[in-house]
Amino acid sequence: MIDYFFTFSCFAILGWLLEVAYRSSRAGRFVNPGLLKGPYLILYGTGALVLMGATALLQTADAGFAVKTLVYFVATTGLELLSGVIAQRLFHAHLWDYSDERFHYKGHICLKFSLYWIALAFAFEYLVVPPYRVLLGQFVPVVKSAFAGVVLSFMLVDLLMTAVRTFFRITQEESALADAEFRKAATPVLALPDVARLSQYPHHRGKTRLYHVKEVAHLSFLLGRRLSLDGEAIIRGALLHDLFFYDWLREGPRLHGFRHHTIALNNARRITRLSQIEEDIIKKHMWPLTLVPPLYPESLIVSLVDTYCTIRDYLPLDRQDKPGNTADGCAGPTAEEKLI
Ligand SMILES: [Fe+2]
Ligand SMILES: [Fe+2]
Repeated sequence: MIDYFFTFSCFAILGWLLEVAYRSSRAGRFVNPGLLKGPYLILYGTGALVLMGATALLQTADAGFAVKTLVYFVATTGLELLSGVIAQRLFHAHLWDYSDERFHYKGHICLKFSLYWIALAFAFEYLVVPPYRVLLGQFVPVVKSAFAGVVLSFMLVDLLMTAVRTFFRITQEESALADAEFRKAATPVLALPDVARLSQYPHHRGKTRLYHVKEVAHLSFLLGRRLSLDGEAIIRGALLHDLFFYDWLREGPRLHGFRHHTIALNNARRITRLSQIEEDIIKKHMWPLTLVPPLYPESLIVSLVDTYCTIRDYLPLDRQDKPGNTADGCAGPTAEEKLI
């Protein structure tokens, strides 16, 4: 299995280099191809895996030139069409456009490039696959795992961030409305002295706990709002989800990760009345570490956003996503609140 991940990672990067060279030379300036910010293209990683599978099958079946041509046409052009449609439908992005070419289909695929892909697929079979198989055997599993692990982690966070940015893209009026709703529900909670105290505790690399809970509350609220969930419960639950008063890296109970949700819940119950959803949000925010799954979609959202924010804090891919400058422009934590 690790060979598949390794191969995917290698060819995603090699494909990116190929596209950068092609597009930059045509544009006369550096062009970063694709949807993501990092140096990889999912299309090429997937394409390499598909072609390797097809090559192995065709060689086993001792297929002739015509059958290979047909299979390579379907595999490469099919993948290109699927990628183009997904990028357009889910991310509203036109990564390439063949509308000016003859014999194209909605600008996603065209005959000329399909012929290029077939030629590249043959080159891949005869020139790339044999030396790559030898090379693959040279690497010990731990090196392949480490390389694939790093590349795929970056790619996953990059993809999530792109999806979040696309999902949160809203008009100015919507943004102002969401801003007002967020402030209305958040202000009374933030005014509680115990919540304000969270600004004294570091949480994730350079961020205070207050900053973290506001960030989680803000992103969860926007996501929940899009899904027509209980926004007030999300904001209140998320602002209280890490209500504990120790520097978890230096002090506090053993097995902090498995216990702090209960501590936060007890602290929250002391300072305010909680609804069932808010209780569940705090109790389940470490799921799946806490085995019992969230009871409400609101709890699931906060748990996922909490994990996302944590990964993002430790894999800082996007420095543009600064405090107070969130993708939506709506009320979030400010830069002043970030550092202790
Ligand atoms: Fe937590
Ligand atoms: Fe958290």
